[in-house]
Amino acid sequence: MIVVTGATGNIGRVLVRRLLAEGAAVRALTRDPARAGLPAEAETVRADLTGADALEPLLAGAEALFLNLAAGGDHAAAALTEAAVRAGVRRIVLNSSMAVTDTPDDDAHHIARLHAGLERAVRDSGLEWTFVRGGNYATNALAWAPAIRTSGVVRDAHPDARGVPVHEADLADVAATALLDRSGAHLGQAYLVTGPAELTVAQQVAEIGRATGKETRVEQISEEAAAEAMAGPHFPKEAALELVRMFGRTVDAPAFPVSDAVEQITGRPARTFAQWARDHAADFS
Ligand SMILES: NC(=O)c1ccc[n+]([C@@H]2O[C@H](COP(=O)([O-])OP(=O)(O)OC[C@H]3O[C@@H](n4cnc5c(N)ncnc54)[C@H](OP(=O)(O)O)[C@@H]3O)[C@@H](O)[C@H]2O)c1
Repeated sequence: MIVVTGATGNIGRVLVRRLLAEGAAVRALTRDPARAGLPAEAETVRADLTGADALEPLLAGAEALFLNLAAGGDHAAAALTEAAVRAGVRRIVLNSSMAVTDTPDDDAHHIARLHAGLERAVRDSGLEWTFVRGGNYATNALAWAPAIRTSGVVRDAHPDARGVPVHEADLADVAATALLDRSGAHLGQAYLVTGPAELTVAQQVAEIGRATGKETRVEQISEEAAAEAMAGPHFPKEAALELVRMFGRTVDAPAFPVSDAVEQITGRPARTFAQWARDHAADFS
């Protein structure tokens, strides 16, 4: 039995299907099973990981856990890690972040600190672990969907900021491989998982235009305005500003690291952003 946190999320939803297709038993955690729309073959269980629910019963009989910080935050994920030890889970595959570099920089900003802290908790648990250090997610582009649907104009502080957007299906495939592996090849590994090529924000917006047949363009706005738009109840404006500035630094930075981890681990090349845009054309139409 494999327990998947964030099972209705971008990665989790694909991962549940992938694990089921491989013949694994899956327990999918969600705050609302009735609305989850997960396959009937999965055992879909109600769990609010920030609430008062007991954690151990969620893990009873499980061999492995896919842990996503998005499912309730870092404290919830650390508590679930401790519960996994008590419940006799053997392996954790952690959805971490490429922001973690194993250098003192990991203390320098919010996102790296959060993920590095959780990686420490998982390492210290004594369980088998694999870290999927993904970034930047192609699904971040979904934030442009309302703008593209209504006007085709995306407002961004750094149209020439670069990234190597990774498809959620590739993150799920890497995680599934590590969860199901019997050879031990992925234990104690922290994988940098990126898309196959570097693209600017403007190039990504153009790809979405091609996939949808819409006219799209990017209009530059201030860093402050971009941070304001990005901040939310779980993402303070200061952290958003930090992130916007970090993206800004990619404009003139040396080429982004493009990892071949997807191909090495799954045996298949990473999906392109053009593919992602086609897969998500309906989200922008
Ligand atoms: N964006 C990037 O570029 C990037 C880069 C590197 C790493 N990351 C990491 O990846 C994460 C996002 O992964 P994702 O895109 O797959 O996530 P996602 O689509 O945001 O999904 C997260 C899921 O967590 C569940 N959830 C939320 N609060 C919960 C709670 N209190 N208890 C239980 N479940 C809860 C939700 O399911 P229900 O509503 O069904 O409960 C939701 O579907 C980030 O948080 C970050 O840690 C992101």
